Amino acid sequence: MKAVVFHGIGDIRLDNVAEPKIQKPNDAIVRLTASAICGTDLHMIRGTMPGMKSGTILGHEGVGIVEEVGNAVRNLQPGDRVVIPSTIACGNCSYCRSGYYAQCDKANPNGPDAGTAFFGGPASSGPFDGLQAEYARIPFANIGLVKIPDGISDDQVILLSDIAPTAWMAAELAEICSGNTVAVFGCGPVGQFAIASAKLMNAGRIFAIDTIKSRLQMAQEQGAEIIDFNAEDPVEALKGFTGGIGVDRVIDAVGVDANHPHHGAGAKKASLKAPKNRMEQKMVAPKTNTANGNWHPGDAPSQVLTWATEAIAKAGTLSIIGVYPETAQSFPIGAAMNKNLTLKMGNCNHRKYIPMLIEKVQSGVLDPEKVLTQVEPMTSVLDAYKAFDTRQPGWVKVKLEPSATRVAA
Ligand SMILES: NC(=O)c1ccc[n+]([C@@H]2O[C@H](COP(=O)([O-])OP(=O)(O)OC[C@H]3O[C@@H](n4cnc5c(N)ncnc54)[C@H](O)[C@@H]3O)[C@@H](O)[C@H]2O)c1
Ligand SMILES: [Zn+2]
Ligand SMILES: [Zn+2]
Repeated sequence: MKAVVFHGIGDIRLDNVAEPKIQKPNDAIVRLTASAICGTDLHMIRGTMPGMKSGTILGHEGVGIVEEVGNAVRNLQPGDRVVIPSTIACGNCSYCRSGYYAQCDKANPNGPDAGTAFFGGPASSGPFDGLQAEYARIPFANIGLVKIPDGISDDQVILLSDIAPTAWMAAELAEICSGNTVAVFGCGPVGQFAIASAKLMNAGRIFAIDTIKSRLQMAQEQGAEIIDFNAEDPVEALKGFTGGIGVDRVIDAVGVDANHPHHGAGAKKASLKAPKNRMEQKMVAPKTNTANGNWHPGDAPSQVLTWATEAIAKAGTLSIIGVYPETAQSFPIGAAMNKNLTLKMGNCNHRKYIPMLIEKVQSGVLDPEKVLTQVEPMTSVLDAYKAFDTRQPGWVKVKLEPSATRVAA
């Protein structure tokens, strides 16, 4: 079968690989009808999420049809249409049973303290082969896979595999209450759904910060007040727009690949921090492999964390859902402590939110398709990765059609 395979930092290929087989009684094999490219995949290829094993199939977002189940999977059968949560969890341990699926004690073969188990990630996360493939083996399928009701399309539900639950959890961690002012840093797919989630939680005003025009425009279409960090200093702008108070809630939907401003009012301040930024970049991405404008790590890993603690109101809540590797160790703790901030963060407990989000899509409250801007066959996956990496205008979220290779073959 065809799959996107990680060969090294800056080196991914569309390879022919062996089809997966059932290995354990609670496994299922799923034929993917949809997959997607995520900002998290970019961290791995840019080298800001280290420890990838060569030969790992990438991708952690998927929708498909169950082909085969192990004999301990009693709630599914071949032919069922399912959405696959990005993180893998056993459903039995105390963490899973309290909804902390991303902290499952059993799913990660490296042990309970090795970190979140997920598809297509670094060696420390399993590694498990990912979902940018024609078929995938899904461990703990009985708890992981969620059946899709009739009437919901792949274009809608693919965004419920990772992005929508992640953004919902980000808004939940931010403790948004009616009337709160919320700032969302990053207008990628996660940022867009964070805006949608904050709206559903009755936020009063929502600010969206990025520098990509088409992404800011999408945020504005959702009703957010937009700030381009290369045109104005986002901290000054947020303070100014809130009568000097700052925002009650901040969501970091950027993570380690953050950039500092290169133009505008914030650029001068950023240039003073250039040595610190370079040092942090070296710590999080000791190895990079850039080629033809692709796979450049962000040039200021802690930029959003700094802005967030400056722009937030006293006693506000900061929710960090953007990914940081363990090698990222810079956070303005003094500023946060002295403002009595609440900090909440983490990897998404996908399985906890997916059924509820399916209902929101069914009822029309949430429209994931607004964020899906590209649908590409697997045969164009490498070009799609490059366009998404360089933030081409209009490219917000890319759905892949793995079975399209079959038709083409
Ligand atoms: N915690 C989880 O479980 C989880 C799950 C999925 C994704 N994520 C993470 O969420 C983050 C966003 O994912 P995505 O798919 O939307 O990524 P993306 O790469 O498409 O979007 C990131 C956006 O941040 C913007 N940006 C860069 N520097 C900025 C700055 N200083 N201020 C404001 N915006 C800035 C970029 O222009 C880009 O539009 C990534 O770090 C991803 O790994 C986390
Ligand atoms: Zn993802
Ligand atoms: Zn568990």
